[in-house]
Amino acid sequence: MTPAEPTAIFTRSWSLYDLLTEYNYMFHREIYKGIENLLKLRVDPGHYHLLDLGCGNARYLAPCLKHVAPAIYEGVDLSEAALAEARGYLGELSAQVTLTRGDLLEAIESAGKTWDVIFTGFAIHHLMSDEKARFFRAAGRCLSEKGWLILVDVVREENQDRDSYLDGYLKFMRETWTKVPQHQLEEACTHVRDHDYPECLSTLRGMAAEAGLHSSRLISRYAQHHTLVFSRSTLEKV
Ligand SMILES: C[S@@+](CC[C@H](N)C(=O)[O-])C[C@H]1O[C@@H](n2cnc3c(N)ncnc32)[C@H](O)[C@@H]1O
Repeated sequence: MTPAEPTAIFTRSWSLYDLLTEYNYMFHREIYKGIENLLKLRVDPGHYHLLDLGCGNARYLAPCLKHVAPAIYEGVDLSEAALAEARGYLGELSAQVTLTRGDLLEAIESAGKTWDVIFTGFAIHHLMSDEKARFFRAAGRCLSEKGWLILVDVVREENQDRDSYLDGYLKFMRETWTKVPQHQLEEACTHVRDHDYPECLSTLRGMAAEAGLHSSRLISRYAQHHTLVFSRSTLEKV
């Protein structure tokens, strides 16, 4: 893997990420239960349009959507291997499903329609700061009036620099991801060291506000793994 390819680990060996999530090392079970509960608060079940950026194989979002189905689901990811699995996981959904191989930033910047929910799970931290700001601006442009941007991602502490964040996260991986075979754990650590650029909460909120998404809620936090929802209008029930 070259450092210039942040998604190579997902393209080449999707199964490693699947293994980590199988052991729940990144709290997917708790996080996605929270997403399901959040989606249940929407006033437009069965009718809303959902864009999933960096959808991977959609293994954890798909079961949530069975309970609160959108009318339209579109997933975008660079990994063909992940998308091939997503077709299976999303197969039973009543929604109209489209899966597109492509770059998430290009996809949202060129979106020609509005979305009621823009979801992105553990993907935005691969973008550089200016790209994240572009991501929020584009999301702000194509969210419907009562739309939600749901962001699941790793987040740095306020005033924590990237190096000290990485020290902490790599320590967390080495101490808790004990069932991952050693060579795969090292591959995952290299990926994180080379490609993870998480922001702190205030930076994410600032970027969102500049994009017109002035309301935000922290839905959950499990160690460094956060779920946030952003919207244009006040998030009353959330
Ligand atoms: C850690 S996985 C997360 C998958 C799933 N969303 C989840 O929450 O479990 C990150 C996914 O984002 C995709 N990804 C990362 N950067 C991307 C980009 N610029 N454009 C499209 N997909 C991207 C990767 O291919 C990978 O499938």
